[in-house]
Amino acid sequence: MQSLDFPESFVWGAGTSAYQIEGAWDEDGKGESIWDRFSHSPGTIEDSSTGDVACDHYHRWREDIALMKRLGLKAYRFSISWPRIIPAGRGKPNQAGLDFYSRLVDGLLDAGVEPFVTLYHWDLPVALQDEGGWVVRSTTEAFVEYADVVSRCLGDRVKNWTTHNEPWTVVFLGHQLGIHPPGVQDLSTALKVGHHLLLSHGWAVPALRRNSPGAEVGIVTTVVPVYDTRNKEHKRRAGVALDGSLNRWYLDPLYGRGYPADMVTDHIANGGLPREGPTFVESGDYDAIAAPIDFLGVNYYCPAVLRDSGAGPPEGTASHLQNLERTDIGWDIYPDGLYDVLCRVHFEYRPGKIHVTENGAAYSDGPGNDGHVGDERRIKYLRQHLGAVHRAIEAGVPVAGYFAWTLMDNFEWTKGYSQRFGLVWVDFETQERIPKDSALWYKQVIEGNGITEGGV
Ligand code: FCB
Repeated sequence: MQSLDFPESFVWGAGTSAYQIEGAWDEDGKGESIWDRFSHSPGTIEDSSTGDVACDHYHRWREDIALMKRLGLKAYRFSISWPRIIPAGRGKPNQAGLDFYSRLVDGLLDAGVEPFVTLYHWDLPVALQDEGGWVVRSTTEAFVEYADVVSRCLGDRVKNWTTHNEPWTVVFLGHQLGIHPPGVQDLSTALKVGHHLLLSHGWAVPALRRNSPGAEVGIVTTVVPVYDTRNKEHKRRAGVALDGSLNRWYLDPLYGRGYPADMVTDHIANGGLPREGPTFVESGDYDAIAAPIDFLGVNYYCPAVLRDSGAGPPEGTASHLQNLERTDIGWDIYPDGLYDVLCRVHFEYRPGKIHVTENGAAYSDGPGNDGHVGDERRIKYLRQHLGAVHRAIEAGVPVAGYFAWTLMDNFEWTKGYSQRFGLVWVDFETQERIPKDSALWYKQVIEGNGITEGGV
């Protein structure tokens, strides 16, 4: 058995997001978010559930911090609900909302858990959506106002900030496929939305730095490795284009390269952009988007594999990618993909630091008769992916932290409560929390600052 030691200062964490755990959707002056409105509309969520109560974290945060302490977490990544802070999207802040997060941050620091705050994990105030949402440029200004209010309140204690979580998801699922709110299905709208998300990130960075001296600031993107298993040269462009829309469309402008030329050409051809190109880009935008950041947050779950539709893999393909095991949500398990994306991001974009801000697996294992939750498959998933992180570090990639997704079972967006990603089991009737075996395993990993290959 080979033991894998991580760097001494490695940040071991777990993550959540506001809408997925807080509940209290209309309490203490909170405004409505687009996820409130969406989940309250029939036919949107697979099990017809909502985040109205979720894990009731808004009321149980003390208990949840105690749980984190018990698990030995060094850091906790959570998001702030914009409509809890500024119910109408812009204008008067809601003191009760600010107080909630202020107490949470104090509680975390008292417990020795470092807060990593994400400003936007998809719950836009409905008031702003009614003005056009991310399609209109003025939402970008509202975001900066919100970032300013939050960081003026918490900036003395929070030293790690991320602006957005996964702009791609907002763009693609929210505005192109339309399966997330606001349910728009239009490529040209989606591309505009993406630009405003990136711009709001760039404009918020100086506000965060001003209000939170010495803090580290970044953004979280999903980075999906694309493997084209088909050995047919004329089809290769599809893989390059998929990589372009998933990854390069965001990473290139964030790292000062503007939008990738091949993708601009594609989007002009497919009607996503007018013949003149991205006309929503105004002078100075690219510089603003490329505001220097301290770290990049990378979320990784599974690869995108382009498979030949014919029977059996064509000769010479990456056949090891043909029959991958899947988690309950149907996502392929491929730990090497995490190694690949970390190396790729490092060698291509050179972020000063990378945090793996999300990685985890949906498995339904629940308590047996003795109340104990044996989730060996999650342990295996986490162990293999941490192995990939370790290899990346050995290859020279500056990975500084890892945040398991997620601290506890919660509202998994359009899947409702049917998919359980948590280290901790949640009984949604009683709100009982039971650490699964994976949580206890993770505690040992943290204590030992590394993993033992082969063993639990
Ligand atoms: C990510 C989201 C996170 C969670 C996981 C499973 O895309 O950021 O909120 O839903 O997927």
